[in-house]
Amino acid sequence: MRILLINGPNLNMLGRRQPEHYGKETLEVINLYIADYFKKIELEFYQSNHEGEIIDQIQSAAARGFKGLVINAGAYTHTSYAIRDALEACGLPAMEVHLSNIDAREEFRRISVIAPVCWGTISGLGKYGYILAVQALAHRLAKKEN
Ligand code: DQA
Repeated sequence: MRILLINGPNLNMLGRRQPEHYGKETLEVINLYIADYFKKIELEFYQSNHEGEIIDQIQSAAARGFKGLVINAGAYTHTSYAIRDALEACGLPAMEVHLSNIDAREEFRRISVIAPVCWGTISGLGKYGYILAVQALAHRLAKKEN
C-alpha cells in the first residue's frame, strides 16, 4: 500500500514558523515520526512551495502506484482551484490535513476550496493529523483490497 504525503507552501519552514500555531518540530522530524509509526505502509513525502509542482505530483500519483494522498496544501487550501481540480481528477482518495485549527484562526482560513473534493479533513491536531489521515486511508484501502 503506497500513500503520498504532500506538504505545500511554507511547510518547509516548520520549526521556525509561528510555533504557537505549527509547533516547534521541523517537517523532517514530523516526516520521520510518521514514517516510523507506519512500518508496513510505503509512504513518500513531498514538499513544494510551487502550485504547479504540487499539481504535477497529484496528477502523476496514480500512475506511480500510489493508492491515496494526504495533503496539507498550506495557504493554497484557501485559494487554489487548480489543486482542487487536480485532486478531483486524480482518481485517488485524498485526506486534507492542517496542523493548526483553521476554523479557530483568521476568517480567510475558514474556507477550504479543496475540502469538497477530499474524502475528509483533519484540522488542529498537529502532527497527529497526518497519522490519523494515513490510518483512515489504510483502513479504507485495506477494505477495498479484501
Ligand atoms: C496550514 C493552515 C493554512 O491556513 C496555512 O496557510 C498554512 C498551514 C496548517 O497546517 O495549519 O500554511 O495548512
